[in-house]
Amino acid sequence: MAEYVKVATTEDVEPGKPKLVEVNGRRVALFNVEGSFYAIDDICTHRGAPLSEGEVMGKEIQCPWHGAMFDITTGEVSGPPADVGVDKFNVRVSGSDIEVEI
Ligand code: FES
Repeated sequence: MAEYVKVATTEDVEPGKPKLVEVNGRRVALFNVEGSFYAIDDICTHRGAPLSEGEVMGKEIQCPWHGAMFDITTGEVSGPPADVGVDKFNVRVSGSDIEVEI
């Protein structure tokens, strides 16, 4: 059953700087987009690159290996060569804690 797990604090995740966390054995990339926090699967669906090492452009992340684009807020693909989106996780902020539902 899904549950919310504390993964970081709000000070840990700066705008434009994704943070990799591991939750129940899954690699999850955390993002701060204009003060709102998002979590998506860290593993690119194209060849498995770590999306947390990519470049943030607005509300999109560019894969560091071949340049696929994903929407940080939904996990959907927004640019090739990937053609499948990544999982998106619900996030809630409790005080200064960032919690991810997983
Ligand atoms: S591994 Fe991400 S675009 Fe190729």
